[in-house]
Amino acid sequence: MTKLEGDRRSILGVASLFVSVVVTSAGCREKSADRSMIPPKTAPSASASSAPPPAASASFYATRFSKRPSVPAMTEAGRALFFDPALSRSKKLACATCHDPRFAYGPPNDRATQLGGPDMNQDGLRAVPSLRYLEKLPAFTEHLYEESKGESVDQGPTGGHGWDGRANSTHDQARLPLTSPFEMANDSVSSVVDTVSHAAYAPRFSEAFGDDVFADPKRAENAVLMALEVFQQSPKDFYPYHSRFDEWLRQKAKLTAQEERGLSLFNDPKKGNCASCHPSLVRRGAFPGFSDFGFVAVGAPRNAAISANKDPAFFDLGLCGPLRTDLSAEKKYCGAFRAPTLRNITLRRVFFHNGVFHRLEDVLEFYAERDTNPKKWFPKKPDGTVDVYNDVPPDYRANIEQTPPFGRKPGEQPALTRAEIRDMLAFLGTLTDADLAANPAKP
Ligand code: HEC
Ligand code: HEC
Repeated sequence: MTKLEGDRRSILGVASLFVSVVVTSAGCREKSADRSMIPPKTAPSASASSAPPPAASASFYATRFSKRPSVPAMTEAGRALFFDPALSRSKKLACATCHDPRFAYGPPNDRATQLGGPDMNQDGLRAVPSLRYLEKLPAFTEHLYEESKGESVDQGPTGGHGWDGRANSTHDQARLPLTSPFEMANDSVSSVVDTVSHAAYAPRFSEAFGDDVFADPKRAENAVLMALEVFQQSPKDFYPYHSRFDEWLRQKAKLTAQEERGLSLFNDPKKGNCASCHPSLVRRGAFPGFSDFGFVAVGAPRNAAISANKDPAFFDLGLCGPLRTDLSAEKKYCGAFRAPTLRNITLRRVFFHNGVFHRLEDVLEFYAERDTNPKKWFPKKPDGTVDVYNDVPPDYRANIEQTPPFGRKPGEQPALTRAEIRDMLAFLGTLTDADLAANPAKP
């Protein structure tokens, strides 16, 4: 693989936003799982699997500004927004407070959920995801058909922003934290616009979008959301592809014997089988993102540290709700969350949607021993039996994934030994981007 590959991706990735509305939506609808880096130049073929983009999204990109905004100007405007705590009602919470660049735009601490809200004392339901390597995330579709797996095989729900895929674009996603009562807690995006129009960096918006950008509220709102979206497409900041593993793919670095063993175990369908959901291979010239963006119920243990879980009747069931509401009738999806990327995973101190684990080692042991030693992971019920999969109500436990490394019986040998887990940890350590490897705040 050449360096050119990465560069070409970056230019086209951002350009796809602006060339035309059709290209943008087509890029999101690229249907193969490797989501090849080059956005199609024409409208997608009739076999494309998902619905056309919502009209609202099309009109968003069609917003007319008096000046045609350049990508660098929007990136810098978006960067200013991303780091500005004044955009929150508490004036203490920036996007970057939760999505810390030193931690691959993930959480800077080991809290399962971060505090937010008007008084900075409310916790949310979910762990903060990394924002790196989302550039190939497709819009949500309930049915994905992949060429490589046979056109007729339905890969099921895929894509969309958030653990439950409920936001279809980065700009829709940005609306959520800005107005969520337990995050930035603004009444509306327009109150954010008012703050931006008075900020020290307001001139950057005028320079990027034209002097009259704040004259029309809707246009100003779109400028703010677009700047955030374009910033999050900055290749240098969000998808540098410069971990040691990438250098190895480019044949410019070596992996140790242990790291290579770890990679084999990661890929081996009978061992880790991790790559079946966290792809590790270069496909169609695109470097792997370590997520297929599919939804699976892994059955992570319930996390008592989340306030909402004090109510025994409350369950965060991902695709089927409660934060997402359009699929609540689809009981087969209850408990399923979107597979996250494993790039930069060694910088994280909270794992899974509910942040129940704090050490990567525990996550790997959970994969190996969830079913062979359930009492290690799940609490006992009053009758003394183990309450397996206790964060999913009994009616939906049939949804829980049973393919390897899962699906063994209690007492059987786990799919991975301790030594194999150590090898996999060593391999996962090669996925840290070079700019973060020296992070002084690293645990
Ligand atoms: C209080 C902490 C917090 C703040 C502040 C915050 N986020 Fe998030 N962010 C989260 C959490 C938690 C999620 C996962 C939400 C879910 O799945 O329901 C998330 C998800 C996302 C995602 C989706 C990532 C993915 O994997 O699909 C994007 C994009 C994002 N945030 C961008 C932003 C931007 C832009 C801002 C500022 C306008 C921001 N966030 C502010 C906590 C935060
Ligand atoms: C059948 C699909 C599937 C397989 C196989 C799989 N994963 Fe995952 N992985 C997921 C999903 C889905 C999540 C998110 C689940 C959740 O939060 O409820 C996840 C989450 C993770 C996380 C937590 C990441 C974070 O940001 O919180 C790690 C680490 C991880 N997987 C590593 C692995 C390893 C290592 C293997 C192989 C031993 C593996 N996975 C196998 C689908 C899979």
